[in-house]
Amino acid sequence: MRFPDGFLQEIKYRNNIEDIIARYVNLKQSGSNLKANCPFHSEKTPSFTVSKSQGFFYCFGCGAGGDVITFIMKIENLDYLSAVARLAEFAKLEMPADDGEARDILIRRKRIYEMNRDAALYFHDRLINLKSEDGDRVREYLNRRGLKGATVKRFGLGYSPGGWDNLVRYLLDKGYTRDEMRAAELCRVDKKGKYYDFFRGRLMFPVIDVQGNVIAFGGRALEAADGKENGPKYLNSADTPAFKKSRNLYALNFAKNSKRDCLVMCEGYMDVISMHQAGFSNAVATLGTAVTGEQARLIERYAKRVVLAYDSDEAGKRAMNKAAALLGETGIEAQVLKMDDAKDPDEFINKYGREKLAGYLDKPKGYRETVIDEVLEKYDLSVPGEAEKAVGESCREVAKIKSRINREVYAGHLADIFKVMPDTFFKRIEVLHRKHIADEERDEDKRFEEKLKKETVTPEEKILGALLNYPEFYNDIKDMLVEDYLPDEFYRRIFLAVKEIAEAPAEFDILQMNRDFSADEIGRITKMRISEAATKFLNRSDKLRNHIDAFLKHKKAEQPKDDWVNYIRSKNNYNQS
Ligand code: CTP
Ligand code: MN
Repeated sequence: MRFPDGFLQEIKYRNNIEDIIARYVNLKQSGSNLKANCPFHSEKTPSFTVSKSQGFFYCFGCGAGGDVITFIMKIENLDYLSAVARLAEFAKLEMPADDGEARDILIRRKRIYEMNRDAALYFHDRLINLKSEDGDRVREYLNRRGLKGATVKRFGLGYSPGGWDNLVRYLLDKGYTRDEMRAAELCRVDKKGKYYDFFRGRLMFPVIDVQGNVIAFGGRALEAADGKENGPKYLNSADTPAFKKSRNLYALNFAKNSKRDCLVMCEGYMDVISMHQAGFSNAVATLGTAVTGEQARLIERYAKRVVLAYDSDEAGKRAMNKAAALLGETGIEAQVLKMDDAKDPDEFINKYGREKLAGYLDKPKGYRETVIDEVLEKYDLSVPGEAEKAVGESCREVAKIKSRINREVYAGHLADIFKVMPDTFFKRIEVLHRKHIADEERDEDKRFEEKLKKETVTPEEKILGALLNYPEFYNDIKDMLVEDYLPDEFYRRIFLAVKEIAEAPAEFDILQMNRDFSADEIGRITKMRISEAATKFLNRSDKLRNHIDAFLKHKKAEQPKDDWVNYIRSKNNYNQS
């Protein structure tokens, strides 16, 4: 959407980038810039930089970057319009009321929510009122999994009928268009252009956000009579204008009201539903992916502690380690629910009942404790050789603990177990701790350097970086460069944005780019803007012309001669008309 004249300038003027960012991270002066540990990835040496004079931030470590609007979009998990609204709120500015395009986006999103809700009700109805063979099969399946009628209703579970396009036809009748269904990922198009249901013959799990909107679906294959499953076990909606997988958690809509001080993080839909049915209404799950930083920040709003209840297989352990590390960075305490003799919480409840699970949940173990316990369990401590290995491994684990006092607590605890002097133990741990910190820093430096090496800007990125920094140069170079000369869609979009900036009234500037580019793209764009070449070398339009000249000659050398001549000619005609 195009905000009215000057509105974004006012937003920017009243929301100093350094003040806004300082609300979230601890900024330190460094030369003419400000620096901090990046809030968007984990690091120990600051590569997150804020330029007050240019009004943007950039992280050399992870490539996140942009202006004050991008920052709010990323840190608060907001879309463009909501981020602008948030900044307007900070600045006590009224949001412009009659904005056609903003309304359009909101209407389109609302339409998807409505359609999703209709689809969810359709699926639910198919499940409740099945009178076919399917009916028996689905009900038998639910029975076998121990799901009660009330649970099916509470979670709005449903059944997507087999066949080809039942839902498509139903939604058409309701007045939705095929394009809308496509945008909501409810249907796909085959090679012949026919629209078909994405979910067919599956048990359906609507995903509902904290505002109560149906934002997506998961669909589980039903086991066929021979025990085999049809297709992948789960299908999940892809991201849509109304849904971003990495920003949502299944059942958070219920869990946020659970009045418990923690959330229980499970791996799957069925685990969450079983937990809720058994009275643990604080269970949530990621949507078929590992925990993301965005989810960690979402969790932070509702709980300071998370109990990880992951599958006990190797994949589950890996996922748990990753989740614990990520949550730890956000400052959320990670604990572990260890379930013996069951692969996941759903199975555990069905085998041993809710009381036993409640017992475990009352005293969850700290994540670090769990890791150390596993080391101790691995070895027979009565055999000196094995005890020695156990000492070494457990010391290395304790050495990873950040707080000194906690390392000391563990040292005392382990010294007891191994019957050695606590002091000897602690000294050894401290040596390993310093080494661990040094290793981590070195790893980070290495990753950082590799990133920088990869991040060299290409000739066309230099051009675009210079134009983004000096949009007024556009008029000096428009006779030699049109968007079609650029090698990829992303670059062409940037070029067109620059053109719009250069040709529009002065109020329209780079701030508008958050509308048309994703936060990740804005990061790449920011990289172009701060590249040495774009800021220093190309600060004069005649130098930029020389550079473009070289770029075009180089491109010309790449092209078959005839094609290139024809190409340029057609472009010139196009320009004149
Ligand atoms: N998942 C997925 N795609 C798959 C398999 C799994 O998206 N092909 C996701 C689903 O969100 C699923 C979660 O990973 O809920 C955990 O998978 P798994 O443990 O295999 O399934 P369960 O949830 O335990 O389902 P069930 O008990 O029905 O087997
Ligand atoms: Mn399961």
